[in-house]
Amino acid sequence: MQDMSFVLFGASGDLAKRKLYPALYNLFLEGKMPSSISVVGLGRKPFTNEDFHALIKEALETFSRTDIEPSNLKEFLDKFRYCIFDATKQESYKDLQDFIESRESELNIPDNRLFYLSVSPKLVELIATNLHKNGVSQTKGWKRLIVEKPFGSDLKSAQELNASLKQVFDEEEIFRIDHYLGKPMVQNLESLIRPNPILKSLWDHQQIANVQITASETVGVGTRASYYDHAGAIRDMVQNHLLQLVMMTALHHPKKQSPKEIEENKKEIMESLRPVAKDEMANHVIRGQYEAGEVNGEGVKAYRDEEGIESSSNNDTFFAARLFIDNEYWKGIPFYIRTGKRMAEKSTHIVIEFKNEADETDNPEEEGIVSNLLEIQINPAESVSLRVNIMDQTNQQFEPAFITFSKNPSSQPEAYERLLNDAMQGNSTYFAHWNEVELSWKWVQPILEAFQDDALPLHTYPAGSEGPEASHQLLSEDGFQWY
Ligand code: BG6
Repeated sequence: MQDMSFVLFGASGDLAKRKLYPALYNLFLEGKMPSSISVVGLGRKPFTNEDFHALIKEALETFSRTDIEPSNLKEFLDKFRYCIFDATKQESYKDLQDFIESRESELNIPDNRLFYLSVSPKLVELIATNLHKNGVSQTKGWKRLIVEKPFGSDLKSAQELNASLKQVFDEEEIFRIDHYLGKPMVQNLESLIRPNPILKSLWDHQQIANVQITASETVGVGTRASYYDHAGAIRDMVQNHLLQLVMMTALHHPKKQSPKEIEENKKEIMESLRPVAKDEMANHVIRGQYEAGEVNGEGVKAYRDEEGIESSSNNDTFFAARLFIDNEYWKGIPFYIRTGKRMAEKSTHIVIEFKNEADETDNPEEEGIVSNLLEIQINPAESVSLRVNIMDQTNQQFEPAFITFSKNPSSQPEAYERLLNDAMQGNSTYFAHWNEVELSWKWVQPILEAFQDDALPLHTYPAGSEGPEASHQLLSEDGFQWY
């Protein structure tokens, strides 16, 4: 890997502490860092390098998936320097340029620069533009920009943001993080299907009855009321994470694909995603909001009673929908997606239900035959199971049994480790490309507008439940149920 500067905006923020320092540390332990790297942390707080190192050490102690090794901690921390920075001041960019250059010459490394914007979305455009204007991103070596979600708040704002970034970075240089794409089981989807002809031959509308994608959470809005009450589940989870899971599941794997082919394939899936017509929206889209209830045995408030939330808020904390991908592989097959806060359990999983075509002269239900399922647990468990029917010879009835493969998640690199490693190497396979982001916003936009106009019913559900009744009806109308 080439030597570089890693310039981190938002160095004392929550994401840096929880995810980025632990990810960098684990990459360091695994020998996956460049041999010489200058990490420059930026923030408004007047930290010394010692303060900064203490903050990183504490973050590692609290959040790293592996224990700290005192013998090499100093070597790791020595890569980090702190620079005071105010994104709204031009002098700050000039100081930053000097700071980076002086570390580059001290370490004798080329001016390859990776800029990570772990900052409020309002600052992304401002920082990117000023990095260019002040020469910080005009290097002889390569430059890359990593941006966090949300990428815009609707189609128009996403297009505007992208147009500004494109003025100063090329598409190949922009790495839009969607941390779901860094999850091991999401990356495993490709390697699960391609080398397994049994699964590959089943991966289309002829064999599959429906696909279900769930991302349920037990947490509520927490301390993010001001953001979440405007975003809702649709912007927070659906436009990005859930639609990325749809694309990754629907990908076809005839052979090992290059990053470019995967990108192209995902774009085609999004182009084939049937738009939800306004007059049919209520039949296909469910929006919900949690009421008071009990989660893990503890009483919790209704969404409207949470701190910082308007008591009349109609914001969505739950979203479910029926989608169709009108291409040769998936025609006619419903993809159901759902996500919600304050649900019964924390679980992200994909279930593929196969058609139940047991001998037509038989009565499968009477014999206890159920449809085959392929379950992919993404988070917190990581496993793949296949549900099959096995006969119990004592009563001549079939019983479902699971063939399961599972991994211990703590032994696996975390999403951010994988994504940072990829970005350092310039591999954008598991990042959200502009085409996908724009097409996702295009699909979501009419639904956003319907929510805005209160044109769809707002269903309620008790905290700690499986979501509104209407989301169960969405499947039962088609003869299915959520798994
Ligand atoms: C984030 C959302 O992108 O993903 C949060 O902003 C959500 O609201 C989180 O809680 C869920 O991520 P994970 O990895 O815990 O499923």
